[in-house]
Amino acid sequence: MRVRLGLLINFHILTGLNDSTKVKKNKVALEVVGAQKSFGQVEVLKGIDLEILAGERVGLMGPSGSGKSTLLNCICGIEPLDKGLIKVAGLDLTGLKQGELEKLRRENMGYVFQSFHLLPTLSAFENVEFAAQLVGITKDERIKRVTDLFEQVGLSHRMDHLPNALSGGERQRVAIARALVHQPGLVLADEPTGSLDTESGSQVLELLKSLSSNLQVALLLVTHDHESTRICDRVITMKDGSLIAE
Ligand SMILES: Nc1ncnc2c1ncn2[C@@H]1O[C@H](COP(=O)(O)OP(=O)(O)OP(=O)(O)O)[C@@H](O)[C@H]1O
Ligand SMILES: [Mg+2]
Repeated sequence: MRVRLGLLINFHILTGLNDSTKVKKNKVALEVVGAQKSFGQVEVLKGIDLEILAGERVGLMGPSGSGKSTLLNCICGIEPLDKGLIKVAGLDLTGLKQGELEKLRRENMGYVFQSFHLLPTLSAFENVEFAAQLVGITKDERIKRVTDLFEQVGLSHRMDHLPNALSGGERQRVAIARALVHQPGLVLADEPTGSLDTESGSQVLELLKSLSSNLQVALLLVTHDHESTRICDRVITMKDGSLIAE
């Protein structure tokens, strides 16, 4: 009887997990509708429509100047749209007050850019811990998460180093740990391997892939390199401020 009860409980746990995974998978992490943005006379985004589901990895390619970084800046709320809407985790960015927008960014988004933007006076560990502190994660939980992430990015032996005592690839791995420590639903990566050699770039991409699938994080990855999009579920292309058919 005890065995059968155990099996039954296990069955419910398993089916419960399957259900929640399914629900999560179908959730929309990012929705962009008719996004338009100009700088002066220059129309940079000319009506972008894009939907990314929870846990989905999407590559964004296109010529220099086509508007890729501008789109990322609008999605993370650095630049306001002129027209259209952007929803992250179901919340419309345009309807939010500055404080609410900052909260959404801190809690639901992570960024990895070409240059790493690590704080130079904090150790690698502290750089990642700081991002978790900003969203109010307790000290014990922070230490656990950061230690675990450093293990996952293969840098447990470099946690106490200052950023300038790390290689480019190592710094980018710290930046990835920082982008994920608060377990955001969406990570925006703008040419994250742009300043790395092929080998380090490849490691960084594999890391982004495994972390995004382990943690069900949606990823929008801007890259000029077709090979980098191997980690993506699909690739979209931007040209002159519009997305062209997939
Ligand atoms: N703050 C700004 N003021 C005026 N023009 C801008 C501004 N930011 C971007 N632009 C212009 O908008 C266009 C798109 O720039 P954006 O940085 O989005 O391109 P991109 O696709 O990311 O290019 P790259 O691949 O070179 O990084 C460019 O022509 C750029 O000069
Ligand atoms: Mg760019």
